[in-house]
Amino acid sequence: MPTFTFATLPPQTGRTVVVTGANSGIGRSAARALAARGARVVLAVRDVAKGRAAAAAMTGETEVRRLDLADLASIREFADALDEPVDLLINNAGLMVPPLGRTADGFELQFGTNHLGHFALTNLLLPRIRQRVVTVSSSGHRAGRIDFDDLNWERRRYRPMAAYGQSKLANLLFTAELQRRLTEAGSPVLANAAHPGLASTNLLHHQGVPTWLATLQRPLVNLLAQSEDDGALPTLYAAVADLPGNSYAGPSGFLEGRGAPHLVGRSRRARDLDTARRLWTVSEQLTGVRFALTRVSRA
Ligand SMILES: NC(=O)c1ccc[n+]([C@@H]2O[C@H](COP(=O)([O-])OP(=O)(O)OC[C@H]3O[C@@H](n4cnc5c(N)ncnc54)[C@H](OP(=O)(O)O)[C@@H]3O)[C@@H](O)[C@H]2O)c1
Repeated sequence: MPTFTFATLPPQTGRTVVVTGANSGIGRSAARALAARGARVVLAVRDVAKGRAAAAAMTGETEVRRLDLADLASIREFADALDEPVDLLINNAGLMVPPLGRTADGFELQFGTNHLGHFALTNLLLPRIRQRVVTVSSSGHRAGRIDFDDLNWERRRYRPMAAYGQSKLANLLFTAELQRRLTEAGSPVLANAAHPGLASTNLLHHQGVPTWLATLQRPLVNLLAQSEDDGALPTLYAAVADLPGNSYAGPSGFLEGRGAPHLVGRSRRARDLDTARRLWTVSEQLTGVRFALTRVSRA
């Protein structure tokens, strides 16, 4: 099979794509590539000015809409206003290892934004999604555990990296359970996941570390990391390649840090379907948003 690159991305004419966090990093790169190949791309961003600046540097049809994944009211507003079919939803936005913070609804910031925000968004849009949902996880999921007794870090001492790991493990469990439910409902929609390896984006440069440490860290990150364009390729591969549902794409190089996209493995905890079902139920309770598809009856 030829290596998947931007040049091999098939034409996207006629497709509507929503990309969260499309003003920056790998989301911006994926949005730019899809728009350049003919898709109508909705940049779903929390800062509309940043979204407009990103869209201005893209060719093709783009639209900027406000979406703050750390606020359920904003997610509902976005989903209500987007009254049209969506072929592809890319759940890309995320933040990594900020100091302890809370979303507007009181969830721990990383679990609330990276997982619960995308959980609510996907389920609200699901009746209008026609082809695929791609959720961006991370190799950091391997260090993650789902602590059902304290999902929102209210009782434990806060450990930012462990909270990031929990949120990225939740992205993979969400993908697995979403695919199971879609299949059970007889839906043709596929749920896939991807990770970019190590990509030089704002995520790696804005980690809430002191400025002196960020300054020291930047050249090392730039040396080890691949570009944000290369980091976007696994997302695009998961979005358009001929793959079964619940596929997980990442770079093929050493330790999945960089390289051409292909299918990668996931941790044992990410394959635990009982945890995936339980997390889904709890996420429905926390967000008040439910899986809205019922089994399609076949005549
Ligand atoms: N870079 C890597 O090496 C790496 C590795 C593994 C996984 N990932 C994953 O890749 C994804 C994209 O990250 P990136 O590396 O491209 O970093 P990035 O350049 O920092 O992009 C993150 C995007 O998420 C947006 N965002 C953050 N909080 C949001 C919120 N509450 N509502 C809406 N949007 C929000 C950011 O908006 P603002 O610009 O307004 O902050 C930004 O557009 C993340 O899910 C991350 O976990 C990245």
